[in-house]
Amino acid sequence: MIEEKLSQEDLWLYEVIRHPALCGEFLRNLDAHPKDEEWVYAPYQNEIICDFDYYVSICCARTVGKTVALTDILIWILINRVFWGDYIVYTVPNKVHLDPVWDNLVRMFRSNSLLMNYLQRGKGINSSDHNIKLLNNMSLDCRIAGTAGSGASVVGMHTPFEIVDEAGFYPWGTWIELQPTLNTWQKGFRRIVSGVPTGLRENNVLYFSDQIDKEFSLHRVSAHRNPRYSDDDEERNLVRYGGEDSEDYIHHVLGHHGTATFSVFDRSLMLIKQYPVFKIKLNGLDIDDISDYYLHLTALPAIEAKYDYIMMGVDLGYTEPTAIHVMYAKDGHMYWHARIQLTKVSYPIQKQLINFIDDKFGRFDIIGVDAGGPGKPVVQDLLEAEEFLHKDYDKRLIPVEFASNMVLGIDSEGEEIKTKLRPFSVSLAQEYSNSHKLVYSSTDMEFVTELERMTYTKTPKGDVVYKTLTLRGGAKGEDHHTAALLCMLVAHYTLRDQTIYKPNTKRLAGVSWGSV
Ligand SMILES: Nc1ncnc2c1ncn2[C@@H]1O[C@H](COP(=O)(O)OP(=O)(O)O)[C@@H](O)[C@H]1O
Ligand SMILES: [Mg+2]
Repeated sequence: MIEEKLSQEDLWLYEVIRHPALCGEFLRNLDAHPKDEEWVYAPYQNEIICDFDYYVSICCARTVGKTVALTDILIWILINRVFWGDYIVYTVPNKVHLDPVWDNLVRMFRSNSLLMNYLQRGKGINSSDHNIKLLNNMSLDCRIAGTAGSGASVVGMHTPFEIVDEAGFYPWGTWIELQPTLNTWQKGFRRIVSGVPTGLRENNVLYFSDQIDKEFSLHRVSAHRNPRYSDDDEERNLVRYGGEDSEDYIHHVLGHHGTATFSVFDRSLMLIKQYPVFKIKLNGLDIDDISDYYLHLTALPAIEAKYDYIMMGVDLGYTEPTAIHVMYAKDGHMYWHARIQLTKVSYPIQKQLINFIDDKFGRFDIIGVDAGGPGKPVVQDLLEAEEFLHKDYDKRLIPVEFASNMVLGIDSEGEEIKTKLRPFSVSLAQEYSNSHKLVYSSTDMEFVTELERMTYTKTPKGDVVYKTLTLRGGAKGEDHHTAALLCMLVAHYTLRDQTIYKPNTKRLAGVSWGSV
């Protein structure tokens, strides 16, 4: 049989593709425009890509190019048939983490002039299961851990190669389930864990692989080693994160774990039952007429349970959404009935909507509304405007200003005992959760996950600072629904729980509000 001899060029190409780092650089430069800058890996990216240890940990600053390096490792394994006949796995906590990576992978396999040869035309990519199957019988499975945190998304998997990206947010329960999925008997098996520190230590996948488990080969990179990180970036970050000593700067720019941060809520301590919670999201930009809002809200079913009383918690916003919780109390437990989110709805309309919801459910016994920000007039109007006077909001609605102090009682000298409202409200929520007074719903793990993102750190002065982590590492996390719950609890405390001490303020039944 006569076979065509490989040309020298073919052999060069073969050597390039065989090499984990050269391969990625080659693929990324292959279709580039001659005027484009040549793609080269930063030295630390080469180190990551060429680390063949069984367990590799990458604990770095933001945007240093971790995910790019990991994506290229996946592609290299796939096209070189490193684990022939097996699937390899890329897993992340949430859909928001997978989307950009998935889009990038799909784009590369569809349009890169070398990679496109590995796919059967129009086949091989399944975007609903996030699975890519190549003609060479290699496949990639992307798995989202999801909010349930149970491990269901990875159970039953068997693979010689897996990457856990955004490990700072990876649910611990899923990580535990992930342990037996790695085929450690297979030659060259590997698990890579990568992410940006969050400050959390306990049951945190990234902290565990970087600091506790000694088996991992460690890569630690600060933003300052990123060749694309400019002086302007540094300046911006210093302003954005609040200086060199801020925890955000320490995590996002230095890539260090910083001061120990703790989770405030732990789902394993919560009582979670299966019952429906109705969720409505309305956007002011899609709706012109107030009657359309009413139409949507009318669709909310009535509360079926025989409740003792009903509560509403409201966190007001405009660009940042408004969160409204409709809850009921029954036999000493509190349940959610509905969570409503309003985005970009003007305050005058919001006022009417709150009133409408109040009418719809037959007047809430307890209403807590955040009155700290620009939503203040909403609260004032509900309490004082002529049109609402007949609704007696002053007997039911408590304005909540988190920056204020709350008076808990009077000491022996006759001085008021004050506490800062925010930490107080969080401790209320913690206590109500841990004592199972609050009953969370397994159909609404989205909210449980938001609660779990709330963390606290103690400053050197001993002050407790609460912060909600963002999934994507931004400066401030979304915690509007947490705030709505806190408002409800403060109102509940004021109107129901606080039986011992009642200062004689008129309107704010039971609370006096001072500024700090
Ligand atoms: N070697 C490189 N050359 C040019 N751009 C890069 C390089 N590595 C990463 N990038 C770019 O930097 C940005 C952040 O990369 P990414 O991998 O998402 O960072 P991380 O996962 O560390 O947050 C992306 O826009 C990516 O294209
Ligand atoms: Mg990344």
